[in-house]
Amino acid sequence: MSGPDRMVCALKKGEKSIIYLLILYYSAMRVEYVAFDSLGVKSSCVRVKTGDCDIVIDPGIASETGSFPLTSSEKMVLRRRYEGAIRDACSESEIIVLTHYHYDHHIPDQDLYRGKVLLVKDPENYINRSQRVRARALLEGLEAEVKVADGKTFRFGSTKISFSKPMWHGTEGTNLGYVLSVEVEHKGEKLLHTSDVDGPVLKETTDMIVEADPDILILDGPPTYLLGYIMAYYNLARSILNICRILEETETHLFILDHHALRDYRYMDLLHEVYRKAEASGVSLYTVAELMGEKPKVLEGYLRNGPTRWRTWKSFRKEDIIKVLENAVENGLVKGEWLEKAREL
Ligand SMILES: [Fe+2]
Ligand SMILES: [Fe+2]
Repeated sequence: MSGPDRMVCALKKGEKSIIYLLILYYSAMRVEYVAFDSLGVKSSCVRVKTGDCDIVIDPGIASETGSFPLTSSEKMVLRRRYEGAIRDACSESEIIVLTHYHYDHHIPDQDLYRGKVLLVKDPENYINRSQRVRARALLEGLEAEVKVADGKTFRFGSTKISFSKPMWHGTEGTNLGYVLSVEVEHKGEKLLHTSDVDGPVLKETTDMIVEADPDILILDGPPTYLLGYIMAYYNLARSILNICRILEETETHLFILDHHALRDYRYMDLLHEVYRKAEASGVSLYTVAELMGEKPKVLEGYLRNGPTRWRTWKSFRKEDIIKVLENAVENGLVKGEWLEKAREL
Protein backbone atom coordinates (compact mmCIF):
# COMPACT_ATOMS: atom_id res chain seq x y z
CA MET A 1 0.00 0.00 0.00
CA SER A 2 1.41 3.42 -0.89
CA GLY A 3 1.74 6.21 1.68
CA PRO A 4 -1.39 8.13 0.68
CA ASP A 5 -3.42 4.87 0.39
CA ARG A 6 -2.47 3.95 3.91
CA MET A 7 -3.58 7.38 5.06
CA VAL A 8 -7.00 7.09 3.46
CA CYS A 9 -7.32 3.69 5.12
CA ALA A 10 -6.46 5.20 8.50
CA LEU A 11 -8.97 7.98 8.03
CA LYS A 12 -11.77 5.45 7.68
CA LYS A 13 -11.19 4.14 11.15
CA GLY A 14 -13.62 6.39 13.00
CA GLU A 15 -15.26 3.31 14.49
CA LYS A 16 -12.31 3.12 16.87
CA SER A 17 -14.15 5.53 19.14
CA ILE A 18 -16.38 2.57 20.11
CA ILE A 19 -13.29 0.95 21.65
CA TYR A 20 -12.72 4.13 23.61
CA LEU A 21 -16.27 4.07 24.98
CA LEU A 22 -15.98 0.38 25.93
CA ILE A 23 -12.69 0.98 27.72
CA LEU A 24 -14.22 3.98 29.47
CA TYR A 25 -17.14 1.85 30.63
CA TYR A 26 -15.11 -1.06 32.00
CA SER A 27 -12.07 0.85 33.27
CA ALA A 28 -11.39 1.29 37.00
CA MET A 29 -10.01 4.74 36.21
CA ARG A 30 -11.28 7.48 33.96
CA VAL A 31 -8.68 8.71 31.53
CA GLU A 32 -9.15 12.00 29.70
CA TYR A 33 -6.75 12.59 26.81
CA VAL A 34 -6.49 16.35 27.17
CA ALA A 35 -4.04 17.38 24.41
CA PHE A 36 -1.88 15.35 22.03
CA ASP A 37 0.04 15.72 18.78
CA SER A 38 -2.55 13.66 16.91
CA LEU A 39 -4.99 16.46 17.85
CA GLY A 40 -2.62 19.02 16.33
CA VAL A 41 -0.52 20.39 19.21
CA LYS A 42 2.79 19.37 20.75
CA SER A 43 1.61 17.81 23.99
CA SER A 44 0.97 14.51 25.77
CA CYS A 45 -1.29 15.75 28.54
CA VAL A 46 -3.65 13.29 30.23
CA ARG A 47 -5.96 13.53 33.21
CA VAL A 48 -6.58 10.40 35.27
CA LYS A 49 -9.50 10.23 37.70
CA THR A 50 -9.48 7.31 40.12
CA GLY A 51 -12.12 8.31 42.67
CA ASP A 52 -9.34 8.91 45.22
CA CYS A 53 -7.83 11.80 43.31
CA ASP A 54 -7.59 13.59 39.97
CA ILE A 55 -4.13 13.64 38.42
CA VAL A 56 -2.91 15.68 35.45
CA ILE A 57 0.23 14.40 33.77
CA ASP A 58 2.39 16.85 31.79
CA PRO A 59 0.26 19.98 31.34
CA GLY A 60 2.40 21.52 28.61
CA ILE A 61 1.83 22.69 25.06
CA ALA A 62 3.71 24.06 22.06
CA SER A 63 2.72 24.75 18.47
CA GLU A 64 3.64 22.19 15.83
CA THR A 65 6.66 23.12 13.69
CA GLY A 66 7.04 23.96 9.99
CA SER A 67 6.89 20.39 8.67
CA PHE A 68 3.45 19.87 10.22
CA PRO A 69 0.98 20.30 7.33
CA LEU A 70 -1.37 22.87 8.83
CA THR A 71 -1.41 26.61 8.18
CA SER A 72 -0.10 28.99 10.84
CA SER A 73 -3.59 30.15 11.68
CA GLU A 74 -4.86 26.56 11.98
CA LYS A 75 -1.99 25.82 14.37
CA MET A 76 -2.76 28.92 16.38
CA VAL A 77 -6.45 28.04 16.76
CA LEU A 78 -5.56 24.53 17.98
CA ARG A 79 -2.94 25.85 20.36
CA ARG A 80 -5.49 28.21 21.95
CA ARG A 81 -8.15 25.51 22.18
CA TYR A 82 -5.91 22.93 23.83
CA GLU A 83 -4.13 25.35 26.13
CA GLY A 84 -7.61 26.18 27.49
CA ALA A 85 -8.35 22.46 27.94
CA ILE A 86 -5.05 21.93 29.79
CA ARG A 87 -5.66 24.89 32.08
CA ASP A 88 -9.18 23.62 32.87
CA ALA A 89 -7.85 20.12 33.62
CA CYS A 90 -5.29 21.57 36.03
CA SER A 91 -7.74 23.81 37.83
CA GLU A 92 -10.08 20.84 38.41
CA SER A 93 -7.34 18.45 39.66
CA GLU A 94 -5.40 18.30 42.90
CA ILE A 95 -2.28 16.42 41.74
CA ILE A 96 -0.03 17.49 38.88
CA VAL A 97 2.86 15.45 37.51
CA LEU A 98 5.77 16.98 35.58
CA THR A 99 7.97 14.32 33.95
CA HIS A 100 10.50 16.94 32.78
CA TYR A 101 10.72 20.64 32.03
CA HIS A 102 10.31 20.95 28.26
CA TYR A 103 7.51 23.38 27.46
CA ASP A 104 5.37 20.76 25.72
CA HIS A 105 5.25 19.10 29.19
CA HIS A 106 4.60 22.09 31.45
CA ILE A 107 3.11 25.54 30.98
CA PRO A 108 5.51 27.96 32.73
CA ASP A 109 2.82 29.73 34.75
CA GLN A 110 2.94 29.45 38.55
CA ASP A 111 -0.78 30.34 38.83
CA LEU A 112 -1.62 26.97 37.29
CA TYR A 113 0.07 25.02 40.08
CA ARG A 114 -0.76 27.14 43.16
CA GLY A 115 -2.21 25.03 46.00
CA LYS A 116 -1.63 21.72 44.15
CA VAL A 117 0.40 18.66 45.03
CA LEU A 118 3.21 18.70 42.45
CA LEU A 119 5.11 15.46 41.78
CA VAL A 120 8.09 16.53 39.74
CA LYS A 121 11.31 15.46 38.08
CA ASP A 122 14.23 16.34 40.37
CA PRO A 123 15.13 19.92 39.36
CA GLU A 124 18.77 19.63 40.50
CA ASN A 125 20.02 16.12 39.72
CA TYR A 126 20.03 14.20 36.44
CA ILE A 127 18.91 17.28 34.55
CA ASN A 128 20.48 19.31 31.77
CA ARG A 129 21.29 23.00 32.12
CA SER A 130 18.35 24.49 30.21
CA GLN A 131 15.82 22.35 32.07
CA ARG A 132 17.44 23.19 35.43
CA VAL A 133 16.98 26.88 34.65
CA ARG A 134 13.32 26.32 33.65
CA ALA A 135 12.68 24.16 36.73
CA ARG A 136 14.10 26.78 39.09
CA ALA A 137 12.05 29.53 37.43
CA LEU A 138 8.89 27.48 37.88
CA LEU A 139 9.46 26.10 41.38
CA GLU A 140 11.15 28.98 43.24
CA GLY A 141 8.59 30.64 45.48
CA LEU A 142 5.78 28.45 44.18
CA GLU A 143 2.95 28.06 46.69
CA ALA A 144 2.43 24.34 46.19
CA GLU A 145 3.34 21.06 47.86
CA VAL A 146 6.30 20.12 45.65
CA LYS A 147 7.68 16.59 45.93
CA VAL A 148 10.68 15.30 43.99
CA ALA A 149 9.44 12.09 42.40
CA ASP A 150 12.47 10.35 40.83
CA GLY A 151 12.24 6.62 41.61
CA LYS A 152 9.51 7.15 44.22
CA THR A 153 6.00 5.86 44.85
CA PHE A 154 3.19 7.96 46.31
CA ARG A 155 -0.16 6.70 47.62
CA PHE A 156 -3.43 8.61 47.68
CA GLY A 157 -6.08 6.30 49.14
CA SER A 158 -5.98 3.16 47.00
CA THR A 159 -4.26 4.97 44.12
CA LYS A 160 -0.54 4.38 43.64
CA ILE A 161 1.57 6.76 41.56
CA SER A 162 5.04 5.36 40.81
CA PHE A 163 7.93 6.98 38.99
CA SER A 164 10.90 5.48 37.17
CA LYS A 165 14.42 6.54 37.94
CA PRO A 166 15.67 9.27 35.56
CA MET A 167 15.84 7.89 32.03
CA TRP A 168 17.51 9.36 28.97
CA HIS A 169 15.34 11.61 26.75
CA GLY A 170 16.21 9.32 23.83
CA THR A 171 19.73 7.94 23.43
CA GLU A 172 22.48 7.65 26.05
CA GLY A 173 24.24 10.94 26.64
CA THR A 174 21.71 13.05 24.72
CA ASN A 175 21.91 16.75 25.50
CA LEU A 176 18.11 16.69 25.90
CA GLY A 177 18.66 15.30 29.41
CA TYR A 178 16.38 13.00 31.37
CA VAL A 179 12.70 12.22 31.91
CA LEU A 180 10.60 10.21 34.36
CA SER A 181 8.01 7.68 33.27
CA VAL A 182 4.94 7.61 35.48
CA GLU A 183 2.60 4.76 36.33
CA VAL A 184 -0.85 5.20 37.90
CA GLU A 185 -2.33 2.08 39.46
CA HIS A 186 -5.85 1.74 40.83
CA LYS A 187 -7.89 -1.40 41.60
CA GLY A 188 -5.41 -3.60 39.76
CA GLU A 189 -5.44 -1.48 36.59
CA LYS A 190 -2.24 0.22 35.44
CA LEU A 191 -1.64 3.17 33.12
CA LEU A 192 1.91 3.97 32.04
CA HIS A 193 2.82 7.34 30.53
CA THR A 194 6.38 6.93 29.24
CA SER A 195 7.09 10.64 28.69
CA ASP A 196 9.73 11.44 26.07
CA VAL A 197 11.72 8.24 25.60
CA ASP A 198 11.96 8.96 21.86
CA GLY A 199 10.86 5.54 20.67
CA PRO A 200 11.97 4.01 23.04
CA VAL A 201 15.46 3.93 21.58
CA LEU A 202 17.16 2.21 24.50
CA LYS A 203 16.98 -1.39 25.73
CA GLU A 204 16.88 -0.21 29.38
CA THR A 205 13.78 1.92 28.75
CA THR A 206 12.14 -0.95 26.90
CA ASP A 207 12.94 -3.31 29.80
CA MET A 208 11.15 -0.91 32.16
CA ILE A 209 8.02 -0.80 29.96
CA VAL A 210 7.94 -4.58 29.51
CA GLU A 211 8.39 -5.10 33.25
CA ALA A 212 5.59 -2.65 34.05
CA ASP A 213 3.28 -4.50 31.62
CA PRO A 214 0.58 -1.80 31.83
CA ASP A 215 -3.07 -2.19 30.80
CA ILE A 216 -2.94 1.23 29.16
CA LEU A 217 0.32 2.39 27.57
CA ILE A 218 0.92 5.92 26.31
CA LEU A 219 4.12 5.83 24.26
CA ASP A 220 5.69 8.88 22.59
CA GLY A 221 7.26 7.08 19.59
CA PRO A 222 10.38 8.09 17.65
CA PRO A 223 10.67 11.72 16.44
CA THR A 224 10.93 10.78 12.75
CA TYR A 225 10.37 14.41 11.71
CA LEU A 226 13.97 14.95 12.88
CA LEU A 227 15.40 12.04 10.87
CA GLY A 228 18.64 12.63 9.05
CA TYR A 229 19.83 15.55 11.16
CA ILE A 230 18.84 15.11 14.82
CA MET A 231 17.60 11.53 14.76
CA ALA A 232 19.81 8.87 13.14
CA TYR A 233 18.26 6.09 11.07
CA TYR A 234 19.91 3.43 13.24
CA ASN A 235 18.06 4.90 16.24
CA LEU A 236 14.78 4.68 14.33
CA ALA A 237 15.69 1.04 13.62
CA ARG A 238 16.32 0.38 17.33
CA SER A 239 13.03 2.11 18.25
CA ILE A 240 11.12 -0.08 15.83
CA LEU A 241 12.69 -3.24 17.27
CA ASN A 242 11.90 -2.06 20.80
CA ILE A 243 8.25 -1.26 20.04
CA CYS A 244 7.91 -4.69 18.40
CA ARG A 245 9.30 -6.25 21.58
CA ILE A 246 6.76 -4.33 23.70
CA LEU A 247 3.97 -5.55 21.42
CA GLU A 248 5.18 -9.12 21.87
CA GLU A 249 5.97 -9.15 25.56
CA THR A 250 3.17 -7.17 27.20
CA GLU A 251 -0.53 -7.80 27.73
CA THR A 252 -1.36 -4.14 27.16
CA HIS A 253 -4.99 -3.83 26.01
CA LEU A 254 -4.87 -0.16 25.03
CA PHE A 255 -1.67 0.75 23.19
CA ILE A 256 -1.47 4.44 22.35
CA LEU A 257 1.29 5.68 20.05
CA ASP A 258 1.24 9.48 19.83
CA HIS A 259 3.29 12.62 20.62
CA HIS A 260 6.59 12.50 18.61
CA ALA A 261 5.42 9.92 16.08
CA LEU A 262 2.35 11.98 15.13
CA ARG A 263 4.36 14.99 13.94
CA ASP A 264 5.22 13.30 10.63
CA TYR A 265 2.67 12.40 7.95
CA ARG A 266 4.95 9.51 6.88
CA TYR A 267 4.64 7.81 10.27
CA MET A 268 2.78 4.72 9.14
CA ASP A 269 5.36 4.01 6.41
CA LEU A 270 8.39 4.75 8.58
CA LEU A 271 6.91 2.51 11.29
CA HIS A 272 5.80 -0.08 8.75
CA GLU A 273 7.31 -3.00 10.71
CA VAL A 274 5.61 -1.83 13.92
CA TYR A 275 2.17 -1.86 12.26
CA ARG A 276 2.97 -5.24 10.69
CA LYS A 277 3.94 -6.70 14.06
CA ALA A 278 0.85 -5.21 15.73
CA GLU A 279 -1.38 -6.81 13.12
CA ALA A 280 0.38 -10.17 13.48
CA SER A 281 0.07 -9.96 17.27
CA GLY A 282 -3.61 -8.98 17.15
CA VAL A 283 -2.89 -5.68 18.89
CA SER A 284 -4.43 -2.41 17.70
CA LEU A 285 -2.32 0.70 17.87
CA TYR A 286 -4.24 3.91 18.43
CA THR A 287 -3.51 7.55 18.28
CA VAL A 288 -5.54 9.67 20.68
CA ALA A 289 -7.38 11.23 17.72
CA GLU A 290 -8.45 7.79 16.45
CA LEU A 291 -9.58 6.78 19.94
CA MET A 292 -11.88 9.77 19.90
CA GLY A 293 -13.17 8.90 16.44
CA GLU A 294 -11.21 11.70 14.77
CA LYS A 295 -8.56 11.76 12.05
CA PRO A 296 -4.96 12.33 13.16
CA LYS A 297 -4.40 16.01 12.36
CA VAL A 298 -1.10 15.33 10.59
CA LEU A 299 -2.88 13.12 8.01
CA GLU A 300 -5.89 15.39 7.71
CA GLY A 301 -3.56 18.34 7.10
CA TYR A 302 -1.51 16.43 4.52
CA LEU A 303 -4.58 15.47 2.53
CA ARG A 304 -6.07 18.97 2.67
CA ASN A 305 -3.00 21.20 2.42
CA GLY A 306 -0.50 18.90 0.67
CA PRO A 307 3.04 17.90 1.62
CA THR A 308 5.54 20.12 3.41
CA ARG A 309 9.10 18.79 3.78
CA TRP A 310 8.72 15.30 2.28
CA ARG A 311 7.27 14.83 -1.22
CA THR A 312 8.25 11.22 -1.82
CA TRP A 313 9.27 8.50 0.55
CA LYS A 314 9.12 4.76 0.92
CA SER A 315 8.34 2.32 3.67
CA PHE A 316 11.16 1.55 6.11
CA ARG A 317 11.06 -2.25 5.93
CA LYS A 318 12.92 -5.14 7.50
CA GLU A 319 15.55 -5.18 4.74
CA ASP A 320 16.17 -1.43 5.18
CA ILE A 321 16.46 -1.84 8.96
CA ILE A 322 19.01 -4.63 8.51
CA LYS A 323 21.02 -2.53 6.04
CA VAL A 324 21.07 0.50 8.36
CA LEU A 325 22.07 -1.62 11.36
CA GLU A 326 24.80 -3.47 9.41
CA ASN A 327 26.32 -0.10 8.69
CA ALA A 328 25.94 1.09 12.30
CA VAL A 329 27.53 -2.10 13.67
CA GLU A 330 30.40 -1.77 11.19
CA ASN A 331 31.03 1.78 12.38
CA GLY A 332 30.88 0.81 16.06
CA LEU A 333 27.69 2.82 16.70
CA VAL A 334 25.57 -0.05 18.04
CA LYS A 335 26.19 -3.60 19.25
CA GLY A 336 25.77 -6.61 16.96
CA GLU A 337 22.81 -7.87 19.02
CA TRP A 338 20.59 -5.25 17.33
CA LEU A 339 21.36 -6.75 13.96
CA GLU A 340 20.42 -10.21 15.25
CA LYS A 341 17.10 -8.82 16.54
CA ALA A 342 16.41 -7.19 13.16
CA ARG A 343 17.01 -10.47 11.33
CA GLU A 344 14.44 -12.14 13.63
CA LEU A 345 11.75 -9.53 12.83
FE1 LIG B 1 10.88 16.49 25.98
FE1 LIG C 1 7.65 16.06 24.50
